[in-house]
Amino acid sequence: MAARSGAMPYAAIGAHYAVHLPAPDDVAFWRERARALIQCDVPPDRVSWTLPGMAGDLFAGEALAPTDRRLPVPPEDAPPVRANRRFLGLASKAALHSDPERFALLYRVLWRLQRFPRLMEDRADPDVRRLEELDKAVRRDAHKMHAFVRFREVEDADGALHYVAWFEPDHHIVRSEAAFFMRRFANMRWSILTPRGSIHWDGEVMREGPPARREDAPSGDPVEDLWRSYYASIFNPARLKISAMLSEMPRKYWKNLPEAELIPALIAGAQAREAAMVAAGAREARAMPQTWDMLAAQVPACRDCPIATCGTRAVPGEGPRAATLMIVGEQPGDQEDLAGRPFVGPAGQVLDEHLAAAGIDRGAAYVTNAVKHFKFTWKGKHRLHQSPTAKEIDTCRWWLEAERALLRPRIVLALGASAARGLLGRTVSVNRERGRAIDLGDGTELWITAHPSYLLRLDGAARAEQTARFAADLALVRARLRAIGG
Ligand code: URA
Repeated sequence: MAARSGAMPYAAIGAHYAVHLPAPDDVAFWRERARALIQCDVPPDRVSWTLPGMAGDLFAGEALAPTDRRLPVPPEDAPPVRANRRFLGLASKAALHSDPERFALLYRVLWRLQRFPRLMEDRADPDVRRLEELDKAVRRDAHKMHAFVRFREVEDADGALHYVAWFEPDHHIVRSEAAFFMRRFANMRWSILTPRGSIHWDGEVMREGPPARREDAPSGDPVEDLWRSYYASIFNPARLKISAMLSEMPRKYWKNLPEAELIPALIAGAQAREAAMVAAGAREARAMPQTWDMLAAQVPACRDCPIATCGTRAVPGEGPRAATLMIVGEQPGDQEDLAGRPFVGPAGQVLDEHLAAAGIDRGAAYVTNAVKHFKFTWKGKHRLHQSPTAKEIDTCRWWLEAERALLRPRIVLALGASAARGLLGRTVSVNRERGRAIDLGDGTELWITAHPSYLLRLDGAARAEQTARFAADLALVRARLRAIGG
């Protein structure tokens, strides 16, 4: 192999260089050192890469390894280092693998790329194949982390809820996956503890912490019950494929998953449940839940329409059981689905602000949705809201009616057309019906207004106008609440 033409051997001839990475996932550090070494024409067999905690980690605790100071300095006119997009894509994941040889492999491939720019196209090349394997393993680990992190609820000293999860990744993915959890659980205070380091989000700032032990994480609380009932409810005995299930949820994750303890019993009982499902048949045979507990148990198990298997869980209504006011939205959004609570995302913020401005106490109202599951479509990594169909709203009406029957509110506020349909059983125009009470047949007053997310989609004058109309609708509801002493 010919040396790169024009390259100056600024490294001492025959010298061996040791680079110590400050952290096992410090890809930026590796990249910077690798670039300098390539520009000094140091071949891969004259560089060793050490990591914290590895044999040869003489520098544990030092911010900068002493050997770094002896690294060669590239000439000012050194040609740029070539790295194509495919290499960079694979390298960013492969660098997080726990294989101690990964940085040496990356350097070797980068070195070879300077000589064979099309190296990455050679799928039979052992180095390229190994890079692909590492990349795949890291992606799989990240996927498992997204799927199997389970939060337990604890109360912080200031009384705020804090969600803490324990997870055991195979690779150094914790920091790189922090952004995913930050986006998903933006409004929650949470921590993910792992033996490779911890991340903490307080709703504004992400902090990193040291490795943790399993005992540092709480275990067993109501959030686990939620997962268990969710898993039991989505477990479809008629579709049981044990091998597929084990590949998706390998046994090693079971010990941290509250729902996993149900698996043996669910498999054992699968045939009986399948028969029971067939026999149970039509919903007409089902009695409406007579208590809040029955409602809470039945909603997550509902399979009456296809969106019942969408999202993470059914999102129940919440609020005092003696509330005078019931507020009904359309369906949970991305954040509601993850938090298991209605109106905690962006539309919830708009709603909260307007309720407060109108003098309506959200805490005194029962807040729910016409449809209890999040219907969405994937766009890349994002879950995009999809409106429920009239049929889906009508199917979910069963639960909305059950809630209304248990609560017996005096006033119901429907946010948007889907909520109005859920309450009336027919489609009405929000603009035509807003501003006056509609009798729901039992003396309950229904007030209809726009959905807060509609306001979020508008700009300029249209937004100002609709915001004012929304505020005026809420003011009417507030006046009615006052009038009836609610
Ligand atoms: N939109 C709704 O209709 N309901 C929610 O809970 C959140 C957003």
